[in-house]
Parts: sequence; structure tokens; C-alpha cells
Amino acid sequence: MLEDFKNKMNDLIEKINKASYEYYALDEPTITDQEYDDMYNELLRIEEKYPELKRKDSPTNRVGGEALEKFEKVTHNTPMLSFDDIFNSEEIEMFDARIKKQIKNPSYTLEPKMDGLSGSLIYENGILVRGATRGDGVVGEDITINVKTIKSVPLKLTEKINIEIRGEIYMSKLAFQKANIEKRKNNEKEFANPRNAAAGSIRQLDSKITAKRDLDFMAYFIPNPENYGIKSQHESLEYLKKLGFKTNYKLNSLAHNSKEIEKYINDLSKKRPDLPFPIDGVVLKVDSLEDEAKLGFTARVPRWGIAYKFPAVEVLTTLKEIKFTVGRTGKITPNAIFNPVHVDGSLVSKATLHNEDYCLQKDVRVGDVISIRKAGDVIPEVVEVKIDRRKENSVPFKMIENCPICHTKLIKKDAMHYCPNSNCPARHTEGLIHFASRNAMNIDGMGESIIQDFYNMGYLKKVTDFYHLYKYKDQLMTLEGFGEKSITNLLKSIENSKTNSLERLIFALGIPHVGAKTAKILATKYKTMTNFSQATIDELRNIPDIGEIIGQSIVNYFSKETNKELIQELTNLGLNMTYKGEKVIDSKEFNGKTFVLTGSLELFTREEAEEKIESLGGKASSSVSKKTSAVIVGANPGSKYTKAQELGIPIWTEQEFKDKLNNI
Ligand code: IVH
Repeated sequence: MLEDFKNKMNDLIEKINKASYEYYALDEPTITDQEYDDMYNELLRIEEKYPELKRKDSPTNRVGGEALEKFEKVTHNTPMLSFDDIFNSEEIEMFDARIKKQIKNPSYTLEPKMDGLSGSLIYENGILVRGATRGDGVVGEDITINVKTIKSVPLKLTEKINIEIRGEIYMSKLAFQKANIEKRKNNEKEFANPRNAAAGSIRQLDSKITAKRDLDFMAYFIPNPENYGIKSQHESLEYLKKLGFKTNYKLNSLAHNSKEIEKYINDLSKKRPDLPFPIDGVVLKVDSLEDEAKLGFTARVPRWGIAYKFPAVEVLTTLKEIKFTVGRTGKITPNAIFNPVHVDGSLVSKATLHNEDYCLQKDVRVGDVISIRKAGDVIPEVVEVKIDRRKENSVPFKMIENCPICHTKLIKKDAMHYCPNSNCPARHTEGLIHFASRNAMNIDGMGESIIQDFYNMGYLKKVTDFYHLYKYKDQLMTLEGFGEKSITNLLKSIENSKTNSLERLIFALGIPHVGAKTAKILATKYKTMTNFSQATIDELRNIPDIGEIIGQSIVNYFSKETNKELIQELTNLGLNMTYKGEKVIDSKEFNGKTFVLTGSLELFTREEAEEKIESLGGKASSSVSKKTSAVIVGANPGSKYTKAQELGIPIWTEQEFKDKLNNI
């Protein structure tokens, strides 16, 4: 009987693995999703009934397991190197010429450069035993439990061999969109691009979160391939496919000279927008292993390969509308609203047009074909208007004269237009959003859409209303999309914000020209809100980094009765009105110690982490020395991490850092 179930289980696993391979690795499914789900559910049922029969390599293990305390460090068997980057035809020709100096008639494998992060997988007897991040190339982090959730990573190979596989852990464009929809729903900061999303998701201590993010793995490299009788990179790729890995076999190619390389790059960049995954260039590798061995390595990188990076992508679309928005200071911004387009992996549908002059200079008109680029890979911008494709009846841009929300006549100051109505609803909501934002009062969970909703429903009109929300707890809990837990947490965050140090409140007030940095200078100088509100222009203009304009703006702000009343109300509500920065909470872990941050942090912004360290009496420094107390590492740490290891300085992951903060 038990034997029957065991056989059934083995049979199901074999069929599921075959289906997964066809679906994930080959992209050529042979069964329907329903058939797959039925087999998967049947396997689950048997495993639940007979847990003792459950196989270690069962596909049901991909849902994640117990959360980890921290990632263990692992030293790579051979260093995980990367290639030098090149950016244009000239550099491609130089690469080709350099190789040809040493190698007669070389062949190059050309592969899409996947835009994720590299990972190493170790198999023993064909079973996945370890997955690791690249780290600094020498030491990475053990992410085995997370790697197992990636459906295109085979848990068992088609051959019982010991082998290390390298490839890219990445997020498909679709999974990236989904992850961001989820982030928006939870009022969390969205991922800037699929690469960050992949890096953030694979370094989750809770693998159940990783499992939900739908990561992918593209295999492209085998260290020491000669151990498997392989003679070239293209044979490596074929072998990877045979072992059960996803490879880019439909896109990888061979070339012999810079002309062929450039043609490949051209063709690939045309296909790029329609590819389901993000790529950022082409990787060129000398194909023959014998040739590779002849070429060898420089001190840093292999000489036998190079990475060509695409220039920033520009995509054409049609300008549907120029929409004017009102900021909290009343500033009017024209925004280009266009047909949604994928730019470098993310879907964009709007870009700022800054102000009237910018629109006139570019001569943008509704109906125009425009090209969009993501500046610095993040913020979309309108690069150019295709005047030659303009329709005859197009209407030149004209700046609006009245506020789009309250219809008050706009005023112009320098290049900017403003709504002068301090009761304009748009200014109110923007002011509320600013008040709650991260660098201001940092009210966790109080994002833009909740504020809009609460504003429209009448719960929030002015900033003091945040602190009255608790009175409506029962009503708020019944709103769609909220529950007891989320409202309780929200109210807790609001309550917590009362204890913020003075600089946050100064910034949150939204005094024109007073940014977060200026607020800090002012809080340090004046120590209390009362002192600050009585500052004179003579005093202010003499503070370094403040000056006449900011000074006037502050004096102006406090000359208004309504603003004085606001401060009084906030004081009555129990908000802290003093500067806490110099009062160091006694924390042995931080007080008097020096910390260095390296890599990209996920749980904090760099400024937040530094601020936390400083508020606890520590110092954030930029270089590692014997005096460094600990190095806090994020994803893809740099040389500071290596140096810390060499010097034997304690290394904290970001989570460890967070835990220590929580323990204070
Ligand atoms: S081969 C010795 N192949 O791009 C380097 N890398 O500098 C072996 N990448 O860090 C890497 N797609 O993360 C290789 N088809 C591909 C790749 C690829 C993306 C990444 C990899 C590496 C960087 C190359």
C-alpha cells in the first residue's frame, strides 16, 4: 500500500519536473496549467498524508521554509568574477582586435546580458545543496533556502554529478509589475527596477516572501568546464540546458568579428522591448576554452570576455494629455500623460514637463509622437518631440491661467506658476502627504492613496487631524481594504510620530525653502519650537547655509496667525517640540563607536541608517580601518566589505543592524 503511494509520488514528481522543465527552462509547455495544478495538488495531498514519504527534492518544497536569523557567509570555490564594461562600436572593435592579437580566427559566444544579480548553485550527486550570492566575488551569502523557491532552478539534475553552475537570478518584467502592485497595495516603497526587485527578493530572510516574488534563474556559466569534457562556452550552454537549466538558447549566438557582433547587438536591441525579461547589454565570450586559457586574466577580470552595455533606452509613444498638478506650495507642474510604454522593464505613462518654459522650448503638443527615456534608469523624461510626425491641426502648448483644482487665478514667480489660494484642496492633500512622508513625520503606512481617501471622506483636512483619527477607529476599521490590524498599526505609527525630534516637525510644516537638511540645521540651532518660531531675520540670515531667502520665508511663516495656532494645537496634542539629537540614548552597541555602511540597503535608506547611528551616539564613516567597530552590509557590497573581512572587523547584515536597533 505504502509502496503504491511511493510509486505514485515518484511518478508525479517525474511528470511535474518534466512539465516544469518544458515550461520554465524551454519555454515550450506541453500540458495545460490545469493539468499541472492537478498533479501538484495530488502530490501535496499524498505528502500531507504520508509526510515520511516526502522527498527532499519534491517540487512542493519551493514555497519557502522557516525564516532565517541571518545569512551564513560562504567562500566561493573559485572567485565569481565579472567582466569589464564597454559602451560603443569602437570599444567592440578594440576588444576584437585585442583578442585577435593573440588568437587566430576566434569565435565569440554572444549572450544577452541578463539584468539581475549573479548567483552560484552547487549540486552534489545531481542534488541542489547550496545557492549563494556573488557577494564581493570571494565571499557570498548562503541563500539556498531562497534559491529553492525559484521554479527554473532544478532541485535535481538529469545527471548525478557534482557541479557548480553560475547564472543570473532575475525578475521577469511581469513579475516585477506584480511585485510593485503588491507593494503599492501595502503602501510600501516600490522597487525602482527589476534588478533591485530581484536583489531585494533573494535576500529575504523569510523565504516565503521570496517564493511569492516569482524569481527566475538563467544559467550561463560553468566554472572548470573541462572537468565535464567541455571544450567551449557554447558546449557549456548546451550542457546546462541538458542538465535541466533555463538558458537563453533561443537568443545566444556565435560571431567571428566586430561586424557580426554589432549586428547581433542591433538585432537584440530591437527584440529587447518584447523580451519577457530585463537585459542591459550583451556578454561576449571567446568560445574556445583553449583560447580562453591562453588569454587568461588581468588582476581583476578575465581577458577572454567583455560586457557591452546598451545605451539608455528611448521609446516612442503618443502624448495624450498635458495634465497640470498642484504641489503643496501651490506650484503648478505640467505633466506629459502618454500611452503607457515599457521603458527598460517598467511600464511608464507619465513624465514631468517641469514648467511653462520647458514646454515651450520643447514645443510639446497633445497628439505629438514623443520619445521617452528613463534618466538614470529611474525617472522617466521626455527626450524629444518628433516634429516631422506632427499632425497639421496640432495646437501649440498654452500655460493654464487658473488653478486646475480651485480655479483661482495663478500667479507667476520666476519660471514657475503658483496657485495662491492657501485653501486650495490640492495644496491641502499635498501638504498632508508631505507631513506624513518618510523624511518628515515618517508615519508608517500613511501613504498617498490613504491620505487621498481619508481626505475625500472628510477624516483628514488639516495636519492636526492625523492626531484625532483615533477617535474614528471603529469607523475606519469598517472601510474597504482596512481591518482592525491595519488601522491599529496606522494609529500606532501616528502616535509614535509624536515623539519625533524637532527637525522632523520643522520639515513637516512645509515652510517654503525649508528642506530636511535645513530643518536639521535649524533644530540644532534653536533646540525648541518656541525659540525657532521667534527667530529674527537678522539671526537667520547669519546662520551658515540659511541666508536671506530661507530666512525671510521662515519669518513670513511665523508672522501668520494661522501658523502660530497650528503650532499651539500640535503642542496641545502632545507632539514633541524639542531637538533630541544631542540627547544620546544609552546604547553600548552604538555609543562612541564607528560604523561603515556598504552595499545597497533595503530596509533603510543610507541617510536613515546614518541618522539612526548618529542619534545613538555612533559615527558613520566612509572608510574601513582598524578603528571601525562594525561594517553593515547590504546587497552587492564593495571593497569595504572585503577590507573588513581582512581586518577581522565584525560584519552585520542589515537585518542584524535592524534587530540591534529594535533591542534598544
Ligand atoms: S558570464 C567572468 N554571462 O553580467 C564572468 N554574465 O560582467 C562570468 N551577466 O556579473 C559571467 N548575463 O552577473 C555572464 N550571459 C551572461 C550574463 C552575465 C548577465 C552578468 C553577470 C556578471 C556581469 C558580467
